[in-house]
Parts: sequence; C-alpha cells; structure tokens
Amino acid sequence: MKRTLGVCYYPEHWPEAQWAEDAARMATLGLTWVRIGEFAWKRMEPVEGAYDFDWLDRAIETLGAAGLKVVLGTPTATPPAWVAAKHPDMLPVDADGRVRGYGSRRHYCFSHSGYLEECRRIVAQLAERYGKNPYVAAWQTDNEYSCHDTTLSYSECAKRAFQDWLRVQFPGPASYRGNDGDIDALNAAWGNVFWSMDYDDFDQIGLPNLTVTEVNPAHAHAFRRFSSDQVVAFNRAQVDIIRACSDAPIAHNYMGRTTDFDHFKVGADLDIASWDSYPLGFLEDRSGMSDAHKRAYARQGDPDFQAFHHDLYRAVGKDGRWWVMEQQPGPVNWAPYNPAPLPGMVRLWTWEAFAHGAEAVCYFRWRQAPFAQEQMHAGLLRPDSVEAEAFGEAAQVMEELAQSPDVSPAQAPVAIMFDYDADAMWTVQPHGADLSYFGLVFDWYRACRKLGLSVDILLPTTRDFEGYALVLAPGMMHMPDDLKSALGQAKAEVILGPRSAARDTHFCIPTPLPPAWPGSDLAVSRVQSIRPDMPIDIDGGGQVIGYFEQITGGGEVVIQTADGAPAAVRCDAGVTYVAGWGDDAMHQRVIRATAPNLAVREMPDGLRRRATGSEIFWFNYSTKDVEIDGENVSASGILRHNI
Ligand code: GAL
Repeated sequence: MKRTLGVCYYPEHWPEAQWAEDAARMATLGLTWVRIGEFAWKRMEPVEGAYDFDWLDRAIETLGAAGLKVVLGTPTATPPAWVAAKHPDMLPVDADGRVRGYGSRRHYCFSHSGYLEECRRIVAQLAERYGKNPYVAAWQTDNEYSCHDTTLSYSECAKRAFQDWLRVQFPGPASYRGNDGDIDALNAAWGNVFWSMDYDDFDQIGLPNLTVTEVNPAHAHAFRRFSSDQVVAFNRAQVDIIRACSDAPIAHNYMGRTTDFDHFKVGADLDIASWDSYPLGFLEDRSGMSDAHKRAYARQGDPDFQAFHHDLYRAVGKDGRWWVMEQQPGPVNWAPYNPAPLPGMVRLWTWEAFAHGAEAVCYFRWRQAPFAQEQMHAGLLRPDSVEAEAFGEAAQVMEELAQSPDVSPAQAPVAIMFDYDADAMWTVQPHGADLSYFGLVFDWYRACRKLGLSVDILLPTTRDFEGYALVLAPGMMHMPDDLKSALGQAKAEVILGPRSAARDTHFCIPTPLPPAWPGSDLAVSRVQSIRPDMPIDIDGGGQVIGYFEQITGGGEVVIQTADGAPAAVRCDAGVTYVAGWGDDAMHQRVIRATAPNLAVREMPDGLRRRATGSEIFWFNYSTKDVEIDGENVSASGILRHNI
C-alpha cells in the first residue's frame, strides 16, 4: 500500500476566494488527504432546521477538483449555541457537580437523549448529501472523544441512564414494565453490606461523586464501564447512519494517553483507527515524566510515547488499519510550555508512524489561525500564508516516499496486552499516588524498546498468541479464566503482575488469592504501595518502585530483593509473575531472564529501533549523533536498513 500524507483544513475560516489556491498548493506539495468539517455545525445549520450546505458543496468540489481526497468530519464535538440553548441540560457536569459551560467545545453529555437526536439529524443530513460524493473518500466521527476530560459526566441524565444500565447488568425477572433488575444481586456483587450500603431499588443508586468519603470501588468502576459504553453507543449511532449512505471507510481520531473509554469497542464499529500525535505537547502535558526527562526531550518528544500509541492504534483499527489524523507541525498552544521541535523532528515523527504501519499522516493544520483559541498553534503555513518550518519537512517526506519501497508489515516478537477496563480499575483504586495502569504498561513497553524490540499491542480478548516469543499482561486486574488458560497453553513466555488477576469482574478480591493461576499455589499474600523515595533494591541490579507484593508459593525465583524476598517467580512452565513495579533495569532483567532466546540489543540513549517486514528503521530522539553498526544516525535523524 502506498503511504500518504494529508492535512486538516477549515475552509470556513478563510475567504472562499482563497480555497482554490490553498487546494492547488496542497496538491503541489503532494498531499492526498484533506480533513474538513468537524467543527462547522453552525455554518451547516445556522438556525435549527435551516441547513446551508452550499458552501460545503463548493469547498468539497474545489478540493476534489484539485486532486485531493476529502475526509469529512461530523460536527458533533461543537454543538452551536442554539443547540445548547434548546437543551440546557445537555451540558456535562463535572465531579464537583458544576455544569461545564458553553464557549469552547465538547460541551455535551453522552447520556443526553435529546442531544443524541440532534446529532443523528445533522449526521443524516451530511451522510445523505455526501454519501455518494466521489471526493468524500473517508469519514471521521466527532472529534477526540474524551478530550478535555469529557467521558464522565455527573448529570441527571447520566444518573438515570446509569441506573438503567445497571438493571441490564443485573437483570431481574421480566415484569410488565420490562426488566426491573435484580437489586439483591447487585448488592451481593458489590459487597454493599459494608457500611449498610444495600439498596432497595435501582432508583436509589446515585453517581459516584460528592460522597462524604470514598465510594465503593465497585460502584465507581461500574460508572466508568457505563460511561465507556455511552461513548460506544454515541459513536455507533453516527456510524449506522453514515454506513447506510456511504461505502467510504469511517474513522475516529483518538487522543494520546486517553484511557477512560474502551477504544477497542469503539474501534470495532469503525474501519480505521486514527490518533492525534502531539509529541511535544504530550511530553509536557500528560506524560507524568520527570522534569529532567522533559528537559532532555523537550524539542523531540518522548522516544516511546508516539510508538506506543502507533502500536496501540494499530490494534484498535480493523485489520490493523490506522492513521495519524493530526500530526504536530510546530509549537502548539495548549501545554504548560510549548517549544518548537528540533529541525528534522516533523519528518522523523512522520516516518516513525509509517514504520509502525500508518497508512496516512495528516498534519494539523494547513494554516495557523490568526483568531480564537488556537492562534498560538503552528500550521504548515503561517497566518500570512508563507510556508512555516514544517512545510519543508513535509515536502521532504513526500520526496522520500516517492523513492522508498513500501513499508511492509510484520508481526513483532513481543506482545503486550492492553485492557481499558484494567485502566479503569487502577484509576478507581491506585493504592498509591501516581500509580496507573497506563504508566505500568508503558514502563514495560519502554523496557522492551530499550532492548531494541518491536512490540505489538493486543486486545484483552486475544486468545491466540501464535508467533510471539514473549507476551506481557502486567497489571491486568481482571483476567477471565479462559484468558488464563490460553496464556498458560501459549508457546510464548508470559510475564504477569503486579496486580494481574487481582480482582473479580465486580471488583472484589477472589479466593483462592490472586493470581489463582491454574495448577500453581502462587498467592499474593500482602500488597503495599511505596513512596517514590523508598525504592527496594533488587539483588544484582534494578529496583522496585511504587508497588510491591509479598508472594508465597510458586516455583523458581527469577529475581529477588536484596533482602531475599521473591520479586519474580515462575508460576507455570512458561509463566512468570512479577511481584512489583520495577524500574527499567529490573524490567529488562526479567525480560532477559524469561525469554533468553529473544534477540535483544541495548539501545544508545534516545535511539529506537523498529523492524518491519523488509527493513530496520532507527530513529534518533537524542540531541547527539549516534553510531550504530558503524553508521552515523544524526540527531533527529533516521537510518534505514534492508533486512
Ligand atoms: C487536537 C484537536 C484539534 C486541535 C489540536 C490542537 O486535540 O483535535 O482540533 O485543537 O488538538 O493541537
């Protein structure tokens, strides 16, 4: 498949007289895709029921006639003021009970049925009008579900929908009213005997906010599962309408480090997964990394953050189809600090996405806006239409694409399972400050990459592990029995823990004690979270940081603490349980010890390696040149070798 480039464009921001010239410049640059429309509801429907699509007809015609393919976004992330005025209770409510106001974007509650109807209506208008338009070659639903912390809403309509959702989870005998649910089953599953929390009726169940002290984790977790399902349903409503009118593939643009809804479930309804890659913004804003690390990579981005998401979204996309829908082109406006990338980084980020299998990379945005919220955000062009720095790098990638062989996909030797539900469980019950499922999985991912390994991310529903030498499922707090037996029977080496299989599906500690591995007496007998300034040394190198479990039973001890406590233990022929959250050194030792046949190779600082079916790519995220196999990889540079 030919890899392609694209750009995000807002025709409604610019005089119509400029569109043709913009389109011609995009085509000359070699772009294939132009994404439009996702925030233009007010232009499409200025007042209720009075549609104006003439301008959009002309924009699509102009772009298409220049040879570009249009990705048409549904505008449901920005309901206009008249929609919000019509449905005042559609605004989301935060955990402190405050209504989140109108005046930016994503101001809607996923549970508001009136708003959902408005969305269905505008999406149907678009789908009917453009479903067969030859220039509309892909669709995007909404924009970045969950961005700005918008998955959870503590509104009245969310409460009623949550109660109904719970009735379905705990079904009761059918009555003339339908399913009234089985409240006793819910009380038993959640352990509501504790603190006299037993409910008499589903209508008594509130949302898990504004309580005097912490709520039952089962309650908080159920609310997160419910909220995730609301996103899935909201997206599906749009997909059903578009599919009835169009054969073009449908995508959504997910965000980095956004875990509060199940992307795999949303992705199952779509054709393409895409994500919005802002390496510098993410490093500053949501990496949770140390200041020293942020300083070292301020102009390059974290060396593993983009790759992790590329691999994750390859798993989210149907048949591995995925794109970068928005690629950072220069300084952004929204992080605490917004430095410019080093020269070469926009090219490096683009190629890294292709090396991980992206079909397309689209830059955000064509021209920097001189007005409103994102006037400090770079584009490929400056506000005066002169080329900005990234323009030349995009042009360079275009030339290189034309001269390069295609990137051929290949199964990685290592797989890591990623489970959004486990992330919800850790969020509800981290048991220590700064402990998160994402953080744990990411640390394992980094350890693999520092050993030069390529990684596939797997869905939690995966049961076939054929072809992998090593499979990791750290921190997956609920592991169904069939997953345990599939992992136990896999030919791959398996690494689990800490907290793997630590809870049943309703958030209670199972007995026999976790991980209750079939055929093993290994048990986690005590758990503790530890302060960042009290790491535990591992015998022979490495440290436990953050979290440590006391384990009994099991087989051979793989590594132990300096005091002789087991830190990683075999619990089955090919299964190793790691009892703590380790630093890089500890994780790397466990990987080497459990899978000695893996071809590992320690990476110089900031250098990362990615193997495709036919090539090895080397990406240099450091500010210094690095030598590898006798060849120089310049700072911000790329090296490619045929295999
Ligand atoms: C993304 C968003 C875009 C734009 C961009 C700025 O999160 O989808 O609409 O706001 O950030 O970096």
